[in-house]
Amino acid sequence: MDPTATGLARSPSEVESEPVVEATPLTSTGVPGDDWWQRGVIYQVYPRSFADSNGDGVGDLPGLVAHLDHLGHGPDGLGVDAIWLSPIYPSPGLDAGYDISDHGAIDPLFGTDADFERLVAEAHRRGIRIILDLVLNHTSDRHPWFVSSRAGRTGPHADWYVWRDPAGRDRSGRPRPPNNWLSFFGGSAWTYEPAREQFYLHTFLTEQPDLDWRSPAVREAQYAMIRGWLDRGADGFRLDVFNALVKDAELRSNPTRGWRRRPWDRQEHRHDKDQPGLREVLCELRAIVDARPGRMTVGELFEGGPAVAATHTADRHLVFDFGLLEQPWAAPAYARAIREREAAFGPGRWPTVVLSNHDRSRTATRLAGSRGDTDEIARAAAVVLLTQRGTPFLYYGEELGLRDVEIPRGEIQDPPARRAGLAFPWWNRDQCRSPMPWTAGPGAGFTTGRPWLRLTPDSAIRNVEAQAADADSILALYRRLIAVRRVTPALNRGDQVLLPAPAAEVLAYLRQAGASVALTVVNFGRRPARFELSTGVATAWRPLVTTHLALPAGFRDGGAVRLGPHEAAVFVPTGAG
Ligand code: NOJ
Repeated sequence: MDPTATGLARSPSEVESEPVVEATPLTSTGVPGDDWWQRGVIYQVYPRSFADSNGDGVGDLPGLVAHLDHLGHGPDGLGVDAIWLSPIYPSPGLDAGYDISDHGAIDPLFGTDADFERLVAEAHRRGIRIILDLVLNHTSDRHPWFVSSRAGRTGPHADWYVWRDPAGRDRSGRPRPPNNWLSFFGGSAWTYEPAREQFYLHTFLTEQPDLDWRSPAVREAQYAMIRGWLDRGADGFRLDVFNALVKDAELRSNPTRGWRRRPWDRQEHRHDKDQPGLREVLCELRAIVDARPGRMTVGELFEGGPAVAATHTADRHLVFDFGLLEQPWAAPAYARAIREREAAFGPGRWPTVVLSNHDRSRTATRLAGSRGDTDEIARAAAVVLLTQRGTPFLYYGEELGLRDVEIPRGEIQDPPARRAGLAFPWWNRDQCRSPMPWTAGPGAGFTTGRPWLRLTPDSAIRNVEAQAADADSILALYRRLIAVRRVTPALNRGDQVLLPAPAAEVLAYLRQAGASVALTVVNFGRRPARFELSTGVATAWRPLVTTHLALPAGFRDGGAVRLGPHEAAVFVPTGAG
């Protein structure tokens, strides 16, 4: 598996210097407050793959409701603060729901309006908030707005999408696209519509036309939709590719650069994202969300590193950056990435911590590759996820150490993966979307029918029931980590200092919030590491959480700590809670 071939990632050598975007925060951020979106842990549910209640092989809202206790704050719960639900709206399903034909409704595949209401009520009863995924950049081509828009140049939605006249004709007389922009899913970003004798823009599939966010009517329609979901109890929104909403007003061609593996990377995306007008849209959007106190938003950064993510971050508006996710499992690489994000966000902006999601290879597979110590690395990565400064986003199944599942060609669901090849390298995202294994039984307790995607081949032993019965499982570790994070101010809101590596393969960082102090050390190596715990903050430390219940004998080795291969631990000064 080549983790740089994830389609949504670029290899470090291909990452260019980041574009300059506005540096002013949306509102004055000051020192971050202690809102739930900052202190809490957010769990991503991929609804298709979480739990199926009706035997059609696809996860649904009643299935999620039935499993809320797995996420809640009871003895059998992970103790998460919010669920981010990938899209649940009506969709032809060409991009697994990211091609929406009605942003204001629930796809019958997932349930009814009443099911959504019950989900909100049952989640809230358990102290869990609901964050919806808003795909504002584009719709499905079957959305009534686009059906109307493509029909002609004069209808009520004629200008709701990005339409442009051809740039002349080629030698064969075919209309030429207006500029050189590319679709992230391969090919030109422009498709010709004979009915209008114009091209429309699609940053993703041809069937995902881009809305024109410079149109006041589009904004108003989307804002009305957002108000509707707030009225229905949504606690926040994840904004899909939010930094691509606004395009260059003149639609200028992007500058090209040298050869890269993916055609997309051969352009500098100067004009098709990160445009100055984005801030105005964000301000309008935040004003709507801010009218209901305690609601948050998180923007998915469509490419770009921590520096770009930080400039788009604001009060109650987080921005994903994938700097950590793109590192190999090596202490110096993580140290570099942490230093970079800390420098970009500084003390006044609050980052996110993301090690996996529905677009990327799962942590265990991505970091361990073909090495034999996959579960050990998954455990140590869990410690990083839940102790770094920032809001952790935990992708379903990671709490079991789930791995990518190989999908035979004939079973591919992810559209760009069907056309992957030398000219268009793409990592099949189905591999990280396999159904959640709940029990050892048939269908892994996920479905009584045929699952829409293959189950993980080890579901008989890697499932929630089995791990819940094992006090030293990966699931038990996640529960311990989240519980400790919740009650330790240093971990859930503290600032962070990276310590000089106490040993070659060791990463160590100190978190501090007032009198609360926590020290995390992670051994990235395959050999035990021994080192002195001297930070200047405290002389004596005790472990609060470790990757394994029993640390290797000799843990206290004189005044030093000995960590086993891929072992990680969180320490607090002796005497602290
Ligand atoms: C980003 C989403 O995470 C991805 O799954 C989707 O394919 C694209 N946006 C297009 O909506």
